[in-house]
Amino acid sequence: MEEILMTPGPVKILPRILEAMSKPVKYHRGSEFAALYSDIVEMLKEIFQTENDIFVLSGSGTCAMEAAIGNIVRTDDRVLCISNGKFGERFIEIASKYSNAVMPLRFEWGLPVAVNHVAGAIDYFEPDVVTMVHNETSTGVLNPAVDIGALVKNANAIFVLDCITSIGGDDVPVDNIGADIAIVGSQKCIGAPPGLSALSISEEAWKRITANERRKPYYMDLISYKKSFEKLQTPYTPALPLFSALHEALRIVREEGLHHRILRHRTLARAVREAASRMNLQLFPKRAYSNTVTAINLPHGITEDEMKKEMRRRGIIIVGGQDKVKGKIFRIATMGNVSADDVIYTINALEDVLISRGLLHENERGVGVKTAERIIEL
Ligand SMILES: Cc1ncc(COP(=O)(O)O)c(C=O)c1O
Repeated sequence: MEEILMTPGPVKILPRILEAMSKPVKYHRGSEFAALYSDIVEMLKEIFQTENDIFVLSGSGTCAMEAAIGNIVRTDDRVLCISNGKFGERFIEIASKYSNAVMPLRFEWGLPVAVNHVAGAIDYFEPDVVTMVHNETSTGVLNPAVDIGALVKNANAIFVLDCITSIGGDDVPVDNIGADIAIVGSQKCIGAPPGLSALSISEEAWKRITANERRKPYYMDLISYKKSFEKLQTPYTPALPLFSALHEALRIVREEGLHHRILRHRTLARAVREAASRMNLQLFPKRAYSNTVTAINLPHGITEDEMKKEMRRRGIIIVGGQDKVKGKIFRIATMGNVSADDVIYTINALEDVLISRGLLHENERGVGVKTAERIIEL
């Protein structure tokens, strides 16, 4: 039985992308790679909705998070790290390696960040840099990027926004938000294999990076990425097969059209949410639901490991909770090239697991699937 990956990265890889990845490797200092890289960046600009520079790094999302912080932040820079989940915490950890003046601003997991509290913290702390995660994958919450972006701009600070699980699946107008650095991962909504990340860099961010003469990263020194990009190259040998795969994945995004892709992500996430509610499950977030990953409270009567195992026996791979919410929630992602059928199979399996555990009555078999079908067909 072929298993269906409903995990928040890596995601299902379409055969076209696998094929592209297995083509003979191109020389990375030649014209073929230059054309490929140029195309990739052009297509990334469309989904980032930005005019800013974009670079692709041969490393996963965390690599780009560290590249952003490592290049921008000086030891005495004040860094306000907004956090309402595991990935917000990651920014705190990374920033603490580069600055002695990190101020974590924490919100309850499962709630979006509160704009008025952020405004107060910005007034009080006068940060040089503010970090936030747009789509907090660990809790299934979408944070108010536009509002926070406006506050950060108003304070003349640099805004670093993790859009690792939103760009390519949700509407992320990087320039409207005013994100000076926005980051995406290859293995999420774009639907490419894991191993690459990309980040956009604004004029303001460049000013700080250039002024930061003692910036610490060597492999991820963004100035060397900028210089190499003049020749449409990367400073060091790129993960060539992954670049080919990313190129094909982005072509698929373009063929689908960003608008349709966002709509599909929103519809499929809504189908999961409403089907779950119809099966008497409770969503973990109280509001501000992610359009790419749904976090659901584990009902009494089944553990996280049992839920994952039971779903896997039915051919569906899902994930549990992380850190604080481990053992309390399970998550179903609807990212990338996930199809309506994938979602229906998943809901069908979930229904079956719940019935087998006595958590849903046999009479109710089909309620989740019907709900999901109705939403998908709307
Ligand atoms: C919001 C968010 N930020 C950062 C990361 C880290 O990305 P990676 O595992 O690609 O390094 C993830 C991965 O799940 C994520 O969902």
